Amino acid sequence: MTKVGVGIVGSRFQADCIATSVQALPDEAEVVAVASPSPGNAAAFAERHGVPSSYTDHREMLRDPRVEVISISAPNYLHARITIDAARAGKHVICEKPLCITLEEADEMIDACSRAGVLLLYAEELFFAPKYVKAKQMADEGAFGRVHLVKQGEKHSGPHADWFWDVKQSGGGALMDLGCHGIAFCWWFLGKPKVKSVYAQLSTQVHANRTEGDDEAITIIEFEGGAMGIVESSWNRPGGMDDSIEVFGDKGQTYADMLMGNSLPTYSEVGFGYAVEKASSTRGWTYPVFEEHWNYGFPQEMRHFARCVRGKETPISDGETGRVVQEVLYAAYASAGRGSKITLPFRPTGIARPIDLWKRP
Ligand SMILES: NC(=O)c1ccc[n+]([C@@H]2O[C@H](COP(=O)([O-])OP(=O)(O)OC[C@H]3O[C@@H](n4cnc5c(N)ncnc54)[C@H](O)[C@@H]3O)[C@@H](O)[C@H]2O)c1
Repeated sequence: MTKVGVGIVGSRFQADCIATSVQALPDEAEVVAVASPSPGNAAAFAERHGVPSSYTDHREMLRDPRVEVISISAPNYLHARITIDAARAGKHVICEKPLCITLEEADEMIDACSRAGVLLLYAEELFFAPKYVKAKQMADEGAFGRVHLVKQGEKHSGPHADWFWDVKQSGGGALMDLGCHGIAFCWWFLGKPKVKSVYAQLSTQVHANRTEGDDEAITIIEFEGGAMGIVESSWNRPGGMDDSIEVFGDKGQTYADMLMGNSLPTYSEVGFGYAVEKASSTRGWTYPVFEEHWNYGFPQEMRHFARCVRGKETPISDGETGRVVQEVLYAAYASAGRGSKITLPFRPTGIARPIDLWKRP
């Protein structure tokens, strides 16, 4: 069979990552088109990655018969609209995290894709990160006995683009942006159990001049069966991206530092080109990582999704995964707003964006 034709929506940070990741494992998929609204950006992206077609409107790209699946790398508030447009055009959808802004949007996206008979794939790359996959394999083999606590942290110095800081476009702060990874991770690691309750402590410690959003978030999740997840998310850690996990059971534990644990401890007085995502400097002591996209799991994720489109594999991360994460995000913001634990199911209606549950409880 031919390679799956991928159309990318967006032409900056994550779009570059997706194009490079598809090219890293080119046996199953190829990027055939890109759509991005700013004049010249899609064309420049196409030139940069050798993509044959570029568009300034994603709806135009959806008419391109070579595009079988779109990868949405646009700001969060656009995910639902673009997904529904794609489903109506009969295209499969890979949606970047978080799935969307509201739970109603999550329902509409899942419904639109199911009616159209297309896949809605939720791009949680931590399910494919080699170190984390190894940790889960060991846990599933029983290496740690009964796992009762899973911790995940993702921390950096704050997002690269202005829209992340504007909660109207992003839906929330560090919890929404980074906590969505940890929520998905703990749930997946433990075998996708029901979430029983959520408690969160949120604050804006450093960036109050720039955002209404939370820049520090600690979320505690209680799962059916009693295991706990702890998710730490921060926009206040200079020095480059930090992503790590800890897993504890009655017979053992494991620790994995995805990036610094795979880096070259380096000292340079003059600096060099690039160390790791969000590192502002390469002088002094730094931790340059090799095969960064591979360590995150992006090429492996895109290969899995392409194989799902061809019916060769069953999605391990779909719209339902995104909706579970969305409900926990709602519960976490509401918990911080009320100062108490929230039990699930938790589906308040008419919420414009998750962060409102914290700011206007
Ligand atoms: N999985 C991950 O680890 C990861 C990492 C970074 C970003 N993301 C997610 O990817 C998405 C994009 O983030 P980013 O960092 O690439 O942001 P970015 O600001 O770097 O890029 C956003 C792109 O979307 C384009 N865009 C804006 N309006 C559009 C529209 N109407 N139609 C089509 N394109 C439009 C912009 O022109 C830009 O090219 C976000 O949802 C973000 O949360 C995921």
